[in-house]
Amino acid sequence: MNTPAQTSKQTPDQTQAQTASQKNGFFGSYGGSHVPPELAQTVESIAEAYARYSQDPDFQTELNYYLKNFVGRESPLFYAANLSRKLGGAKIYLKREDLNHLGAHKVNNTVGQALLAKRMGKHKLIAETGAGQHGVATAATAALFGMSCTVYMGSLDVERQYLNVERMRMLGAEVVAVNRGNAGLKEAVDAALEAWVADPEIFYVIGSAVGPHPYPLMVRDFQSVIGKEARRQILEAEGRLPDYCLACVGGGSNAIGLFHPFAADTQVKLVGVEPGGRGNALGEHAATLNYGKPGVLHGSNSYFLQDDNGEVAPVHSISAGLDYPGVGPEHSFLKDSGRATYVTASDQDALDAFQTLCRNEGIIPALESSHALAQAIKLAPTLNPDQIIVVCLSGRGDKDMEQLTKLLK
Ligand SMILES: Cc1ncc(COP(=O)(O)O)c(C=O)c1O
Repeated sequence: MNTPAQTSKQTPDQTQAQTASQKNGFFGSYGGSHVPPELAQTVESIAEAYARYSQDPDFQTELNYYLKNFVGRESPLFYAANLSRKLGGAKIYLKREDLNHLGAHKVNNTVGQALLAKRMGKHKLIAETGAGQHGVATAATAALFGMSCTVYMGSLDVERQYLNVERMRMLGAEVVAVNRGNAGLKEAVDAALEAWVADPEIFYVIGSAVGPHPYPLMVRDFQSVIGKEARRQILEAEGRLPDYCLACVGGGSNAIGLFHPFAADTQVKLVGVEPGGRGNALGEHAATLNYGKPGVLHGSNSYFLQDDNGEVAPVHSISAGLDYPGVGPEHSFLKDSGRATYVTASDQDALDAFQTLCRNEGIIPALESSHALAQAIKLAPTLNPDQIIVVCLSGRGDKDMEQLTKLLK
């Protein structure tokens, strides 16, 4: 399914109405469920099941059990003292999602969705993946719950994230290389949606806060464990809330997971960092909220990168997990309402930030997370030493080693 783009007008004045309407899948006028008729019933049944089980204490207890004992939560909030000292400004804290089982935040969401699939009696999982982290997390979760797993991945990403392809196969998943268009994350989502239309018995584990309702809401809820823990941890460590929360934005799941528990704390500035790639011409970046326009892509109304004809534009990022022309609808709402701002970090900024963290803190971050770090490195020296930045370190960089070894020669 490759839903044609339809442009729409956004009215950014619904901050109050957000909580009420998001139950129906709308964040302001963004979101909704724009799926072909063959999928409508399937998607509706997931929305109904999620509405029910998200309120079910047994479901929550089981989810928390796996988050603690399989994922290894809670993840630390690490004070990056060396980096903060070197930059000479605000204190930088890192929310260590890289320390989760499998090395990224993605598993918080796959455990939640697989448990929902189990409750719905579904045993066939499919997923799309860019960097491979969501694919690996889905493959591992499927193995844990005795389910089958097929992962769709753009053939360009199969090449640059080969380690993760091997990990998925090791975990018993079938990896389908999608060789069309940009051969990236968008094409992987297209292929997964086509497979889903063909077999309604499938449960599609979407890897980011995108897609039709209930996915943006559900993924946000599962990833909010990041922000809930970070909020409690920073209060414990510093006795106050941070001045800034920073996270990279691909589809937007680690960012919304960090932001959401801080959304009502209006003194905390929420900053999403998009991949600025090699420049601001269309095709050179994947900075959807900076350069895109509203319209419908992959089942929901949100910003996406479009050419002059309203067609989905090609994208580029050094980082496979950020290389996507769309973004979750809640981020579109947060941008238009002004509650969050979205900036860019270039490929080179991310590479520099990657090296800075390796050398100063002994932590090898994912290239995706390095975009958020790049913004922290830029911002910290402009702030006072009593100010605080929390950065979501969404994943570790092992998967990027082959690519980085070539790039940093
Ligand atoms: C480590 C890591 N961080 C961030 C992302 C971007 O995804 P999202 O914006 O949904 O958090 C990915 C995607 O693969 C990833 O692997």
